[in-house]
Parts: sequence; structure tokens; C-alpha cells
Amino acid sequence: MCGIVGYVGGRPCRDILFRGLRKLEYRGYDSAGISLIHKGRFDLLHSVGNLDRLESVLHQMENGSTVGIAHTRWATHGRPSNENAHPHTDCSGRFAIVLNGIVENYLALRAELEVEGHSFTSETDAEVVAHLLERSYDGSLREAVAAAFQRMEGHFTFVAVTIEEPETIVAVRKETPLVVGLGEGEYFVASAVSAFLAETRTVIFPDDAELVVVTRGGVEVTTMDGLAVEHAPEVVDWDEDAAEKGGYETFMLKEIHEQPVALADTLSQRMSRDGLVCLDGLGITDDEIRALQQVVIVACGTSYHAGLVGKYALERWARLPVEIDVASEFRYRDPVMGPNTLCIAISQSGETADTLAAMRAARTAGARILAITNIVGSQVTREAHGVLFTRAGLEIGVAATKTFLTQVLAVQLLSLYMGQVRETVALDKVRALTDELRHIPTLLNSYLDSGPAADIERVAAAYAKNRFFLYLGRNIGLPVALEGALKLKEISYIPTESYAAGEMKHGPIALLEDGSPVVVVATDSHVYDKLVSNVQEVKARGAHVIAVASEGNVGASVMADEVFYVPAVDEMLSPLLGVVPLQLFAYYAAKANGESVDQPRNLAKTVTVE
Ligand code: F6R
Repeated sequence: MCGIVGYVGGRPCRDILFRGLRKLEYRGYDSAGISLIHKGRFDLLHSVGNLDRLESVLHQMENGSTVGIAHTRWATHGRPSNENAHPHTDCSGRFAIVLNGIVENYLALRAELEVEGHSFTSETDAEVVAHLLERSYDGSLREAVAAAFQRMEGHFTFVAVTIEEPETIVAVRKETPLVVGLGEGEYFVASAVSAFLAETRTVIFPDDAELVVVTRGGVEVTTMDGLAVEHAPEVVDWDEDAAEKGGYETFMLKEIHEQPVALADTLSQRMSRDGLVCLDGLGITDDEIRALQQVVIVACGTSYHAGLVGKYALERWARLPVEIDVASEFRYRDPVMGPNTLCIAISQSGETADTLAAMRAARTAGARILAITNIVGSQVTREAHGVLFTRAGLEIGVAATKTFLTQVLAVQLLSLYMGQVRETVALDKVRALTDELRHIPTLLNSYLDSGPAADIERVAAAYAKNRFFLYLGRNIGLPVALEGALKLKEISYIPTESYAAGEMKHGPIALLEDGSPVVVVATDSHVYDKLVSNVQEVKARGAHVIAVASEGNVGASVMADEVFYVPAVDEMLSPLLGVVPLQLFAYYAAKANGESVDQPRNLAKTVTVE
């Protein structure tokens, strides 16, 4: 996440940059900063907290400069603090940069630079870029940026300025957004069009690994080797609201499409070169993991469904007894646990009152606590012994989508890691699974790019007037069914029941009548044949079956009335793909019924009450 904006032109730009940040605030707001080039030196301003805090100190900065860069941060590496806020500078104070994304090899680069005598002032991955520029600068910022880019691994966009070339900004991207705004004698670079939409609507969208050099004279785009690249300017006709949503009609749809990047960010630096899982800084030692006798998972809502995936994964790979409960129930139980119990608390916001209370109850009962959360500095991080961060970026849609997927990935990584440490899963198996995991962001990206939405929208519109849906799944498919059903009920208000398919005959089957829609999670698994028998039982009662199945399953279209195919992966990883068509299905059903998708009634993004 993070939002970045830069300006070169003829007007004093302090306030222009600040207004740009305001439009990017949805991308993160734990700290912010601006750097202007003024009278041959940098004028720098940082503040911790949201943009109101930066605004309250903005007057400390003169508004005379016509070149500058600015950043609003969503912390990944290093807590929110003045030191970690961007822009970052080098040792000589001649270069300043802002960065969005993750520099995966920053530790190696930092070590290399420190040996050469560079000293660092922050804990961030981004600061290495300023020092790389300092090291390679030889009269051309463009060339120094190219040299830095070629040393960096990961996915990021960065924008650099130097007092040596006070009228120039250079920007480059790799798998994260960058847009250039073309005004009258003034130019903008930003993470999203919304940052400068009030100033210009003429834009170019550079590709990965292209160098964008912006001066008052214009914008030049080149390859790394200096060959000119032409991008025809486009005029965006989005309104400001749509621009913040990156052109998507809602935040939820945007966030569904951000899932490949969210997964890639969450995977970043968590797999070693030899294919094993490495979770440095977990806060729970390997000896503690070896001594564990029990795991207890507590969470609420969608996070509880991610926890259920964790139950299957931990049992299979770490061979530990796993108990899971919704936090609001757990907190009032009298659980039996001790020092060899690990309590995993999952909360995207890190502030859910019930989850915090459940953590405290587990702690009082003697357990070690590991929190999985998306928010650096949130309350769960303060109260847990250890933390595993998801890196989904800020989620604005009330219905959780990308945070769910990254929680699922986090529990899978944790389970594999614990299996590795406890020697309960063969290392070859770990390697095979991490190899699959590495490819899942790309698979999901191709899946979303292949345009499944049109078909899903058609089916959702056809069924949206039904007043009841039954969702079924078995084994690792069950949490996917539960999550799909929750998504539908919370944004479309259609009552749903979600059940373990084998349990359906013990009651819920009575709800079915001719034409009742039944959504079945039928991705490939060792219980697939059992699930097919359950599907026959619902079909015999006249139900219409909508299935999520793995590509290549030719029988699925015989079994079901409608099939949403997803790429086939190891069954334990299948929730990472299988839930996505169900998110889209819920989305389009709500849309067909004219509901407010991003702000469903009665719900809140952070539930800090009991
Ligand atoms: C559903 C949803 C909620 C949350 C639940 C827990 O889309 O978002 O069910 O999952 O309120 O919230 P966190 O994860 O913040 O503890």
C-alpha cells in the first residue's frame, strides 16, 4: 500500500502535494511526509498519524518550492514513527525518495551498504533506495535510479529527487501502480489518478521497468538502456470518487482485484531460496513450537473462517490437536490450557473487542499468544507474545475480501512452518507447497484477468431474487462455503445457511424445494466423491446447483447447473482460489438487488464493542 505523489511545475507545490495525499489517504495513514527542494536544499516534514496531523504542522514548511514529493504510509517494515515515515534521505542529504511496495532484498542491500559505510536512520526497506542512489550517482539521476532499480527485488514504485538536479523527478515502477499527470507546464507522478485529478485529467500509464523523467520541460519515458518509449496520453473521465477506487465501481471490487498483490506482499520474504518457510521475528521460538501440545484458534466472522483453514492445515502439517472457537464464546468459557498451548488470535483490524478478550482469557490460562493481523501497531500486536502480519494493505469495503485471503495464506505459512520445525511434514512436501504458493498470485491474477466476472454476474443476476441460499462444502472446502455464505448475507441481505455437506441430511435438507439454489465448493480434494454424493441428494430434491470446481474437472458441468472454474492447486491451498468466485458472486447478487456494497447496513469495519 502507501500513497505517493510528486510535482514539478511553476506553482508553489506544498499544498498541491498535500491535497494529493488527501486523495490517497485510503492507501494508508499511519504517518506521512513531504520533501520540497527549496533554495538548493531539502525542506523535509514528517508526522506520525493521519493526514490531519501533517496538516497541523504544514505551516512549518515554506510554500515557495515548485518541486517536491510526498507520501502517506501504510507500515510494512518498521512501526509508524517519524524515523520510518517517508521521504527517506541518504547519508549526504542530497537524495530523497518515496516508495510504495516492498523491497524484498533490502536486508542484503542494507548489509552491503553498511559495510561501505552508509548509516541508516530508519527500520524501513525503502531507505536502501536513497543510499543506492547516493552510491551510484554520477551526474544523472535517471542513471542512478536505473542502477538502483536493477539491484532491487520485490514489487514497488519509487520516486526520487536530488538537490543536484533540482528541477527533476525520476519515477519507476515494478508491479505496483504509477501514473503520470500532464498539465500545462506542470507534471505529476502518483500512485493513483485521484491524487491530481483536480489539476489535470491527461495521463500516461508507464509500464514496469520504464524510467520516467519529469522536468518543467516535459516528461520523458525510456527503457533502462535509455531507449525512448512513447505512451499516447489518455484522458480520464472518471469522477473523483471513481478515481479513488482506481476506476472500479466500488472498493470491494477493487479489493477483490488487489488480492494477487496482497498475496504476493504477504508471501514476500517468507520463503527461503531452498523452498522452506521462514517466519523470522514470529515471537514464538522454535523450541516453544516443538514443545507445543495444543493449538487454540480464536477469531470472529471472516477471520474465524480463515482460522478454520488453519485448523485443517495445522492438523495435517504440524500434527497438533487444534481447537477453534468464535472469540465471543471462547471468552466466557473455562478453557483448559497451559504453557504448551499456543493460542492463535486472528483479526484483520487488530482491535476487535471479543478477540482481544479471548486473547486475554487464553493468556490468563497460561497459553502463549500469537496474533495474525493486518494492522501494524494495533491492540492485538501489543498484547500478543508474537505477531504474524498479513500485508493486504488498507481494506475499505466493509465486507472483508483481501484481508481474508491473506489471513488464509498466513495460517497456511504458519502451519507449514510449524510442521517444518516439528519435523511432522517432509521437507520435500514443504518445497512442493511453497513452489505452488509462489505461483498463486500469478495464477489468481490470470484468473481475474480472464474475465470470470461476466459469467458470475450473469448467474448472480439470475438467482439474486431467491430468498434463500444453502452453501455446502467438505473438509478444506467447508470454510470456503462458510465465507461465501457470509459474504452473500452481509452485502445482499439474502438469508443463507452454510453447512458441512455430509451434515446436511441431518436437518437443513428440509429447507430445500424445487429450484432452491445450493452453492457447492467442489474443488478437487480427497473428499470430492463424498461431496458428489451429497450434491446428488440435493439435486434429487429439485435444487439448482452452482458449483466452484477445479479446472479440468469435466464431470462438474454434469453435476451442477452452473460451474465457476478456478485453477487447480493442492487441495490444502484451494481456499486461496476457491473463495474468489464466491466473493464475486455475492458482489454481483448485491449489485443486482441494488444494495450498497461497500457500506452494508448495520455493519462496521472495526468492531470495538462486545
Ligand atoms: C465480514 C467481516 C467480519 C470481520 C469480523 C472480525 O466480511 O469483515 O465478519 O471478519 O468483524 O473482524 P476482525 O478481523 O477485524 O477481527
